[in-house]
Amino acid sequence: MPLQETNTIDLLSDFETFLTAHLPDAPSFHPSYNQALKEMFKAGGKRFRPLMLLQIVETYEPLLLKNAYWVAAAVEMLHTYSLIHDDLPTFDDSDLRRGHPTLHVTYDEVTATLVGDALNSHSFLMIADAPLSDSVKVALIKELSLNGGTDGMVLGQAIDCYFEDKKLSLDELTFLHIHKTAKLIAASLKMGAIIVDLDKEQQNLLYKIGLNIGLLFQVQDDIIDATLTTDEAGKPTNHDSSKNSFTNLLGVAAAQTEKEKLKTEIETQLSKLDDALQNRLQSSINKYFK
Ligand code: IPE
Ligand code: IPE
Ligand code: MG
Ligand code: MG
Ligand code: MG
Repeated sequence: MPLQETNTIDLLSDFETFLTAHLPDAPSFHPSYNQALKEMFKAGGKRFRPLMLLQIVETYEPLLLKNAYWVAAAVEMLHTYSLIHDDLPTFDDSDLRRGHPTLHVTYDEVTATLVGDALNSHSFLMIADAPLSDSVKVALIKELSLNGGTDGMVLGQAIDCYFEDKKLSLDELTFLHIHKTAKLIAASLKMGAIIVDLDKEQQNLLYKIGLNIGLLFQVQDDIIDATLTTDEAGKPTNHDSSKNSFTNLLGVAAAQTEKEKLKTEIETQLSKLDDALQNRLQSSINKYFK
């Protein structure tokens, strides 16, 4: 196995051990709340956002990697909250996530909603508790909030749901995907850069590359909905018929073309980075976006 691939597997498996040991824990006489808090992490997930963040840290400051696990876990918690809410009947009404029944199916809508709320705030606690300097932590909290919150993922979800059955233009669709998916992925890269103290120019370059990676991610997600089985995807597919997705607006073939175009654009952008980081990110892109 090539060295880089071994690294990625080790990195993610170490991170998984950390995440499992740091899941939110709130024991009480509630019969299921504490279990529900942890359930969607145990169900799996690709951990794509943590990987983006941790690869940057490992490339520049391997000694900071364990400190960065707190921050990578924070991003994964905010992302997982967004999925739990995304699956609720009032959003996408999905009964399967990461190959497991969704929380509102196993428990009820109140529990699922509240677990999402809890994970949202817990993600910021994870950063506050990270063994990093206070100034770095404030910058990280700001980045996660800006991209995962009001003018980031939440706005994307608001537009996604409001405009179901109302066709958007391609520019509007891009705005939607940038907000609901790309900004959090871009923030993951930038947060890695903040932890290792790269200069502002490098931080912004990584953020810009991250926006394209995020768009690529959502185009692929739309293609998954249109082309994979529920078993293969671990979530309901053919589920986006009333959505503004790349595949609905352009068709699967054109979405594939858009995916290849974005991959080429990202490859060009990555060539502006140091060789070591370029190689690592490129190998992840090749692996996740076949
Ligand atoms: C799904 O995210 C939602 C989107 C933003 C497209 P992921 O595809 O990262 O889901 P997991 O974390 O691997 O389950
Ligand atoms: C959700 O997008 C993006 C989020 C912010 C959660 P989708 O609705 O396309 O995600 P899936 O397909 O259910 O994973
Ligand atoms: Mg959705
Ligand atoms: Mg959905
Ligand atoms: Mg989708």
